[in-house]
Amino acid sequence: MILVTGGAGYIGSHTVRRLLDDGRQVVAADNLIYGHRQAVDARAVFVHADLADKYSLQRLFATYPIEAVVHFAAFAYVGESMAEPEKYYLNNVAGSLNLLAAMRAAGVGKIVFSSSCATFGEPAYLPIDESHPQNPLNPYGRSKLAVEKILADYHRAYGLKYIALRYFNAAGAAADGSLGESHRPETHLIPLVLQALAGRDKSVKIFGNDYDTQDGTCVRDYVHVEDLAEAHRLALEKTDVFCGCLNLGTGVGASVKEIIAAAEEVTGRLCPTEYAPRRPGDPARLTADNKKAAQVLGWRPRYTDIGEIIRTAWNWETNRKY
Ligand code: UFG
Repeated sequence: MILVTGGAGYIGSHTVRRLLDDGRQVVAADNLIYGHRQAVDARAVFVHADLADKYSLQRLFATYPIEAVVHFAAFAYVGESMAEPEKYYLNNVAGSLNLLAAMRAAGVGKIVFSSSCATFGEPAYLPIDESHPQNPLNPYGRSKLAVEKILADYHRAYGLKYIALRYFNAAGAAADGSLGESHRPETHLIPLVLQALAGRDKSVKIFGNDYDTQDGTCVRDYVHVEDLAEAHRLALEKTDVFCGCLNLGTGVGASVKEIIAAAEEVTGRLCPTEYAPRRPGDPARLTADNKKAAQVLGWRPRYTDIGEIIRTAWNWETNRKY
């Protein structure tokens, strides 16, 4: 069986589904602070557990024949991490240490870890490859980088097999509309734009229009959540032949204004916008070099058109289940 921590979260729930479709048995664990019970596929075993609770973790490994772990469980609000770093280091770093201890005690030696392009900070060059320097700008990014380093140390000392996947901007929803993004509060651009287009929010604030980019707004590499789920499935199969970190993005960037224009085209509606000051810590551009993921995992994103990604998100937004 595969243990998926954070299995009720956005990327976790899509990965649980992908693994089940591939014939794997899955235990999805989540503390449901931000996750949604309804997001967990009925074919998975669901366990309500928190990584802070060492006893629950021990019991989890004693109860189920777990061969490998896919570890998503983490807090992921960059702004909140600046205001409450302790919350982030305790959950994201100490929680990961507890998980690794329970794995070691149970003799489970394989993990795929959910890392982030937030570990890089301000880019020194683009696209960002795996050897790009890592100088994260906030506690969220530093908490993810700390776990990458811990995994490397555990590999050297204990032979732990790991692959850390650094996502750029996860976006979109399941093609069949059954799963999607549901953060409360929502801070991410695409759902906020779609909520404004659905008439749920008044207007979208464009954070900064004086960046050195094609139209003055920030450029990000939006990668479809089902493509990310597929990368985790592939990574689980490759932990015996590769150990280290891989960047996951499409390699193509879209600006905030381009996202808004694409969403207007998909929905046939006009998005109310207003300019707002730059958001602290936002680099002008982030795009991934995905060659190593292609080479190691044989991974190629199927969604390369931002309009198609937004179409799946719009389908979710207009029929959301949670
Ligand atoms: N943006 C706006 N208005 C908004 C929200 C966002 O203009 O209301 C802009 C941001 O300034 C940024 C772009 O839209 O330029 C995307 O912002 P998101 O908040 O959607 O995503 P981020 O780029 O901030 O994502 C980052 C990192 C990820 C990390 C994630 C954590 O790139 O690696 O935050 O949630 F995982």
